[in-house]
Amino acid sequence: MNVRDSEAVAAMLEAAGHERCGSEEDAELVIVNSCTVRDKAEQKAIGKTGYLTAERLGRGRSAQAKIAAGKASKLKLVGLMGCAVKRLGAEVFEKVPGLDFAAGPRKFWMIPRLVERCLAGESELLELAGDDEVPEGLGVHSDAPSGQSFQAYVTILLGCDNRCSYCIVPDVRGHEYSRPAREVVAEVRSLAERGVKEVCLLGQSVLRYGVRNKAWDESDAPSPGGYTEPFPRLLEALASIPGLERIRFTSAHPKGCTDELVRAYRSFPQVCRHLHLPVQSGSDRILGLMGRHYTRAEYLAAVKKLRDFDPEFSLTTDVIVGYPGETAEDFEETRSLMEEAGYENAFVFKYSPRPGTRAAALPDDVPTSEKERRDQVLLADQDARGLARNGRLVGTVREVLAEGPSLRNEARWSGRDSGNRIVIFDNPGSVRAGDVVKVRIERAAAQTLYGQLVC
Ligand code: 5AD
Ligand code: SF4
Repeated sequence: MNVRDSEAVAAMLEAAGHERCGSEEDAELVIVNSCTVRDKAEQKAIGKTGYLTAERLGRGRSAQAKIAAGKASKLKLVGLMGCAVKRLGAEVFEKVPGLDFAAGPRKFWMIPRLVERCLAGESELLELAGDDEVPEGLGVHSDAPSGQSFQAYVTILLGCDNRCSYCIVPDVRGHEYSRPAREVVAEVRSLAERGVKEVCLLGQSVLRYGVRNKAWDESDAPSPGGYTEPFPRLLEALASIPGLERIRFTSAHPKGCTDELVRAYRSFPQVCRHLHLPVQSGSDRILGLMGRHYTRAEYLAAVKKLRDFDPEFSLTTDVIVGYPGETAEDFEETRSLMEEAGYENAFVFKYSPRPGTRAAALPDDVPTSEKERRDQVLLADQDARGLARNGRLVGTVREVLAEGPSLRNEARWSGRDSGNRIVIFDNPGSVRAGDVVKVRIERAAAQTLYGQLVC
């Protein structure tokens, strides 16, 4: 979501007459987009921003080295955007001395104006938004060739109303708001007309699209396939757009894994056979404490539904280790759930207390060394699992959307199959980025498939 918000800001700044430059060293304006989901993420963003303001003031270590080498910094303005701004409020200016402006996640669209005001001499400008504010410019994409690609992110749902006990996202990104389907369809249509082949629909919990507020209204054409749930209906509408090869979406909650969603997967080949379905824990006790609103059995039932439809359906997940009170038995339940679900990939996070969340009131009682151990165990399990699951695909032919040459070898290209698996293949020169090609898989690693083009 932050990548998408950053893109929208870059596009708006371009429209206001600014130009992209190739590197941070050449920039006159740098805006850092921040995350606050874990403490480390926030510290990284704040640290980076502080480094930039020190650089500009000529106080940083690298700034001094540059001055010694006779190269002055070109940096004129430093801004901070995103979730850490909303959490910290005016305190950001204490944390980052010399910061020119800051904008919260639902206020990114104000940034071109903030830049203008700073250039006119104002400083320490702050824009935070209310929990229900609907930003402008959600659908702005770059017209400049440097910003164009065959892949695009499209925000469909803002905020989150789930309120999991550990999570700060609802506090910083506000309440759910679904963009009108008509607006989303028009945006994707115009992207497809400009050569976009793959869109990824974004929201904290996309399967809740159209739940809090209506996404469809009576004046919209009825669903030809008789879809009544807003999200599958959106997939149906997007699948009719000419030129659009692939539709992805993230992230999902198992509650939204309905029969209609599976029907949409079955009916529309453009809808990729991959779902990022964060589980967080395999222990019913911990899931209850987390306020996730599903049990292990309900989660696994959603997995079964998807794999019954397509045994190769690709599933990825997020897991938190070391939630307050997580015992060795709870952890083993997470391990066994991950094995049963058979994930293609998993992101493991060490629990980090976030101020103001319900879980932050509980003692953070799993020692860091134990969190680290649990993290390593799950990653090692996942490596073995990924290798075994990918191994089953050796000998099959995958449809791959070519993305571009690998960094080390121009002739080795990388792309992704419908399941979001990375596929490396030799490009004799005939394949261009954005082409869909067939690749026969010859070798598998835990997170990568290797193969040859099939003519
Ligand atoms: N500590 C650790 N991980 C967290 N996540 C969300 N909040 C926390 C927290 N307080 C993880 C969840 C979520 C992912 C984006 O970040 O796994 O799915
Ligand atoms: Fe956070 Fe839960 Fe919402 Fe995900 S669903 S953003 S974990 S509150």
